[in-house]
Amino acid sequence: MDQDDHVCLCFHVSLRKLRAFIKRESPKVPSQISECLGAGTGCQWCVPFLEKLHRQAEAGEEMDLAVSPESYAKRRAAYKQRKESDQPSADDSR
Ligand code: FES
Repeated sequence: MDQDDHVCLCFHVSLRKLRAFIKRESPKVPSQISECLGAGTGCQWCVPFLEKLHRQAEAGEEMDLAVSPESYAKRRAAYKQRKESDQPSADDSR
């Protein structure tokens, strides 16, 4: 994934913005990364990736995600589809 690829696809938050935020703010827990333009507060697909960036920063490692943006977007689309099909419909309440 390149710097300008979006990690949070819901809120269009790039890897570059997340790296800068994490370096500047040093969030104590991964959930504080949501203060960076709402990252992770939509479909929540990116949350494990935000947690990974946080872990890397805590360990003093380079913050990077070894995944292609195409594969990432495809997996997120499948995740959203699964999530939507898990939603109970009005028919399920009978
Ligand atoms: S991709 Fe980040 S909340 Fe949906």
